[in-house]
Amino acid sequence: MNPTPTATLRLAPSILSADFARLGEEVRAIQAAGADLVHFDVMDNHYVPNLTIGPLVCEAIRPHVTIPIDVHLMVEPVDSLIPLFAKAGANLITFHPEASRHVDRTLSLIREHGCKAGLVLNPATSLEWLDHIWSKLDIILLMSVNPGFGGQKFIPATLAKLRTVRQRIEAHRVSGGQDIWLEVDGGVKADNIHEIVMAGADTCVAGSAVFSAPDADGGYRTVMQALRQAAAR
Ligand code: DX5
Ligand code: ZN
Repeated sequence: MNPTPTATLRLAPSILSADFARLGEEVRAIQAAGADLVHFDVMDNHYVPNLTIGPLVCEAIRPHVTIPIDVHLMVEPVDSLIPLFAKAGANLITFHPEASRHVDRTLSLIREHGCKAGLVLNPATSLEWLDHIWSKLDIILLMSVNPGFGGQKFIPATLAKLRTVRQRIEAHRVSGGQDIWLEVDGGVKADNIHEIVMAGADTCVAGSAVFSAPDADGGYRTVMQALRQAAAR
C-alpha cells in the first residue's frame, strides 16, 4: 500500500485530448491550472493503431512550460527516438518492453541522455518484465486501457496490478533501492481516482477528464482540483 496516498499525487494531463491547433496555449493552461507533468503520447501506427506527435512537437512546446515533459513512447523500434526526444526537452521517457529488442540497454540509453527512464506495461503484459531491471527504473507506468486512444474506459483489473507493483517498489526501497514512481494511464476520472491512488499510484495521467472541460472559465483548474479532492477523499 502507498504509505502517503495523496500527499505526493502528481497529475499528468495527456495532451492527446488537447486542441492541437493551440498546443502552446493548452500546455501553458494546464501548468497554470496546477499540472505536475505534461503527458506526451507518441504513437507510430505500428506498435499502436494511431499516429500522433514526435520530437518536433516536443521541442515546440518546451519553451511554453517549466514542468517536466513525460514522453510515453508507443513506438517500435524505440532506441533511435530517445536522443531526439532528450534533445527536444523531454524529462521522462517511458516505453513498452515488447517494442524494444534490448530492454536493459534502452533503459540505460534514456538515463545516459539525462532523462528519467521507465517501462510501460499494458493491461495483459506480465509484471515479470520488471524482474531484472529494478535498479534501472525511475518510473513504472501501468496502462489501465489498451494503448492507442484517449477516452477509453478504465480496466478494473489494473487495481490489483497496482497493489502488487506498489508492494514491490516498497520492498525494493526497504532493501536500499532507489525511489520509483508508479504511474497509471487510461480512463482516470474523479469517480475512480480514489481507488487508483489507494491501490498505490502516485502519478495519474488524465487526458479526456481534463481537456473535456472548457478552460475559458478556469475549467482545467476546476477538474484538477476535483481530481485531487476525490483522490484525498
Ligand atoms: C492512451 C494514452 C493515454 C490517453 C489517456 O494510449 O497513452 O495517455 O491519452 O487518455 P484518457 O485519460 O482520456 O483515457
Ligand atoms: Zn499515455
